[in-house]
Amino acid sequence: MPTAIGFSRFGAPEVLHPLQIETPCPGPGQALVRVRAAGVNPVDCKIRRGDFTGAEPEHFPQRLGNEFAGTVVAMGPDTPAESAIAVGTDVLGSTAAQAYAESLVVDTEGLAVKPPSVPWEMAGGLPAAGQTARTALSRLEVGAGDVVLVHAAAGGVGTLAVQLAGELGAQVIGTASEANHDYLRRLGAAPVRYGPGLTERVRALAPEGVDAALDLVGGEAVITSLALVRDRYRIGTTVDQGAVAEHGVQRVGGRSHAALQEVVDLAAADRLTLPVRTFPLGDAASAHRAVETGHVRGKVILTVY
Ligand SMILES: NC(=O)c1ccc[n+]([C@@H]2O[C@H](COP(=O)([O-])OP(=O)(O)OC[C@H]3O[C@@H](n4cnc5c(N)ncnc54)[C@H](OP(=O)(O)O)[C@@H]3O)[C@@H](O)[C@H]2O)c1
Repeated sequence: MPTAIGFSRFGAPEVLHPLQIETPCPGPGQALVRVRAAGVNPVDCKIRRGDFTGAEPEHFPQRLGNEFAGTVVAMGPDTPAESAIAVGTDVLGSTAAQAYAESLVVDTEGLAVKPPSVPWEMAGGLPAAGQTARTALSRLEVGAGDVVLVHAAAGGVGTLAVQLAGELGAQVIGTASEANHDYLRRLGAAPVRYGPGLTERVRALAPEGVDAALDLVGGEAVITSLALVRDRYRIGTTVDQGAVAEHGVQRVGGRSHAALQEVVDLAAADRLTLPVRTFPLGDAASAHRAVETGHVRGKVILTVY
């Protein structure tokens, strides 16, 4: 029986525990994947803490993990002979709350083929942050010549957003603590320290103005973006729903197979970097503690070998 990691009550990282699951069976249009690496995202910690509980009674145990990389070990019935995905294909993709596991069943249409040159750990962290970053930049209509401000530029989404915006020909300013400033320079962004005075510091770096802003933290980041970006429709946030309602900025962070494929192609061409910190699947609690510091550089990944 394969192992998964889940939780049977909301709470601190210690509530995560192993679950024995039935080997899932792929249906038509699906594949059974042996997972090699699964990304850990802030939303996983929010779900585990119970931040999204509503009026409905909760069902336990619950599983976690919305991105993975692994190898297809079985295909569902009626797979077309010309399918790019077959038994033995290395793949990556996003899924709903189940990737902290040794195996999972997913729809093949959401999968991308993992390039051999991309390490498993990096592949497991590309789907969610990559799609979020790429679709956000599209929604903000980022293009050549734009000056783009990325808040929390050193995290998972930020690291990819900085590089993808650069690929689109934009000039990028990224916020981070000073410990990450050299890192942001290596990614191609002009670094700026967050905290009081942020608006003035960004203005000094972009005297001609900022064309678009991607907020990945909320609060001060939105206020700064509103002060600097003329067109509110070119401010996007993944976190601050209050700002969407109050200021008319865009909610961003969708999924798109085309976006995933673009990110994978750039990684294959060695044009994207994504530093990772790895933990074994069985130590998902430590992985959650790392994410909950709020100061991850790149991604936290669970390895499953
Ligand atoms: N990952 C996804 O696919 C996804 C999808 C939808 C929504 N979101 C949401 O988007 C947000 C960002 O996600 P993520 O995965 O990129 O998070 P993350 O990797 O955990 O972000 C960590 C980064 O945040 C930076 N940071 C912390 N406080 C900051 C502040 N006050 N100002 C600027 N930077 C700050 C840290 O930089 P320093 O260490 O330098 O402080 C660190 O590098 C989360 O709220 C998440 O729930 C994420």
